[in-house]
Amino acid sequence: MTQKRILVTGGAGYIGAHTAVELVQAGYEPVIVDDLSKSDPTLLNGIEKITGQKPNFQKGDCTHYEFLSSVFKTQGPFSGVMHFAAYKSVGESVQKPLEYFRNNIDSLIAVLEVMKEFGVRDFIFSSSCTVYGQPDQIPVNESAPFKRAESPYGATKQMCERILEDAHTTGFRIISLRYFNPIGAHPSANLGELPIGIPNNLGPYITQTAAGKREKLTVFGDDYATPDGSCIRDFIHVVDLALAHVKALEYLEKQSGTNTYQVFNLGTGIGISVLELITAFEKVTGVKLPYGIGPRRAGDIEKVYADPTKVNTILHWKTKFTIEEALLHAWAWEKKLPAKG
Ligand code: UFG
Repeated sequence: MTQKRILVTGGAGYIGAHTAVELVQAGYEPVIVDDLSKSDPTLLNGIEKITGQKPNFQKGDCTHYEFLSSVFKTQGPFSGVMHFAAYKSVGESVQKPLEYFRNNIDSLIAVLEVMKEFGVRDFIFSSSCTVYGQPDQIPVNESAPFKRAESPYGATKQMCERILEDAHTTGFRIISLRYFNPIGAHPSANLGELPIGIPNNLGPYITQTAAGKREKLTVFGDDYATPDGSCIRDFIHVVDLALAHVKALEYLEKQSGTNTYQVFNLGTGIGISVLELITAFEKVTGVKLPYGIGPRRAGDIEKVYADPTKVNTILHWKTKFTIEEALLHAWAWEKKLPAKG
């Protein structure tokens, strides 16, 4: 039987690479495109170690229509597209708003246009809980109205969702997955988060500090209106997140006809504060983390966690891993990395 080929943009990145693995395990053939501007090709080796297959990797920029079109021509036909390629740092987006708007919006439009040209209709989009802004009610469900995004990054995700909502009626079948905060690594320790340069996200900052690569972790603010004053997030194991993408794709494949658009929260439903995550890491690993309290980071939301009822019910997906497992897996991955760099 011929395997269904799925284009995975941003597949050399943290979530994209974990999803490429799950696609292979589910019998699909991922074709990865990535410009490697924010990701390390090491993750491509990790995919190979886990699946035993060298990933089909095409280097290029997803904002370039011609590049994408040549990938569709030479590597297709694709039965679907998962679009992970985007800039993703809340803090950085406040410093570089134009880069974020150009990259995240342009790439979405280019990918959709090329899909249209080649008659590909199934599309999974990496959205984010940042689309909610600071929601009035938490846990937040998918019908909560969008508040003003706290960061340009969040605004790009709101705009992308609006584009998808409008464009889906032209023959697409689309699911937007609103990620909460992915952490952890593949249980094999062959794949994990590997940011280039200083990490923006909490997970890799914790493990790199524990490994001695960073002097100390700064907790951005302890004066929020939360029980311990630090921000609250819904940390979800990256493999659980990856598996949801396969479920979403299978759901789209079962739809009769076109013009489908669905959004789903991908979270555990449990809110954990930054300080609680630090304590949990110290407890499961036995490693003491040097940390201090710093000022709030511009663009941060105070607290958010998911109501995952919709995704549990419609996609029959639930998280399998605990936060402790996520932290242990992330630590096992970090320990396998070279001591420096
Ligand atoms: N934090 C620190 N110190 C750090 C890094 C982060 O205290 O060194 C705090 C942040 O202030 C925030 C929390 O840890 O309160 C989580 O921050 P991250 O940067 O890890 O994650 P964000 O919530 O800002 O954003 C992440 C991804 C987005 C995604 C979003 C969904 O970067 O792409 O989760 O919530 F959309």
